[in-house]
Amino acid sequence: MGTSTVAVPEARRAVCGAEGVVFLTGAGVSAESGVPTFRDRDGLWARFDPEVLATHEAFRRDPRTVWEWYDLRRRAVLECRPNAGHEAVAAFLLAREGATLVTQNVDGLHHRALEEVAATPAELDGARLRILELHGTLFRTRCQGCGVRAWGHDPVDHTSEATLPRCEACDSLLRPDVVWFGEPLDGDTLEKAFLSATHADVCVVAGTSALVHPAASVPLATLEAGGRLVEINPSPTPLSERATWSLRGTAGALLPAILDP
Ligand code: OAD
Repeated sequence: MGTSTVAVPEARRAVCGAEGVVFLTGAGVSAESGVPTFRDRDGLWARFDPEVLATHEAFRRDPRTVWEWYDLRRRAVLECRPNAGHEAVAAFLLAREGATLVTQNVDGLHHRALEEVAATPAELDGARLRILELHGTLFRTRCQGCGVRAWGHDPVDHTSEATLPRCEACDSLLRPDVVWFGEPLDGDTLEKAFLSATHADVCVVAGTSALVHPAASVPLATLEAGGRLVEINPSPTPLSERATWSLRGTAGALLPAILDP
């Protein structure tokens, strides 16, 4: 299915004319930066077993292997750069106080795009608060014992369990601050995401298979409150039939097409 020639300008008018806009992004938004998605043919879950790498049980059993995988992903992402899709969303967030970005991505590329586009530190700080990372981030650790969180960009020494990072306060193992299978999402972040979605006139969903809940329910909150939905994805998803405009194409091309001034 292709995107009709009127759909892009219509979606663009709806988004640019709206007061409240919420974005929901997934791995597809970072695909053009070189970050692999999860469920595409060559995606991460086709090559790696989440049971071995992305559950609390896996970390308890073999923290070294889990850290090795997350450290690899962290380093791979640091080699990538935000693409035109991230940049268009960043510029929109900076220009519009009524815009919020809810992302399932843990790669930090939305934040890096914001850093590139923001003119002043104050502008950057204001917009940062409107990025909600539902599934956490590769660039923060959380203590298994006392729960304290800390930023971390440095490589992790995963030679053995003894070299893994530990909490300075309680000496427990630190884990990546990402959401693993079977774990609940951060309640405060989730509440803010659904509040933004409920108040939005338009929800723009880009680069997600819309299979993982509660994230995939965020656009439904906008629809149920009477708002409209724009979907950007090269392939159909369970949301496509409910989208006001279902645009078939890549985030790197279509996000700028509907957002750039
Ligand atoms: P998926 O891998 O499930 O879906 C990626 C989506 O991006 C697919 O629908 C693709 O068609 C689409 N896509 C691919 N290239 C694109 C491009 N250039 N532009 C736009 N779209 C493109 O990734 P997510 O939906 O993000 O959770 O997955 C959701 C969650 O499942 C992830 O956050 C992760 C995973 O398990 C956790 O790890 C907790």
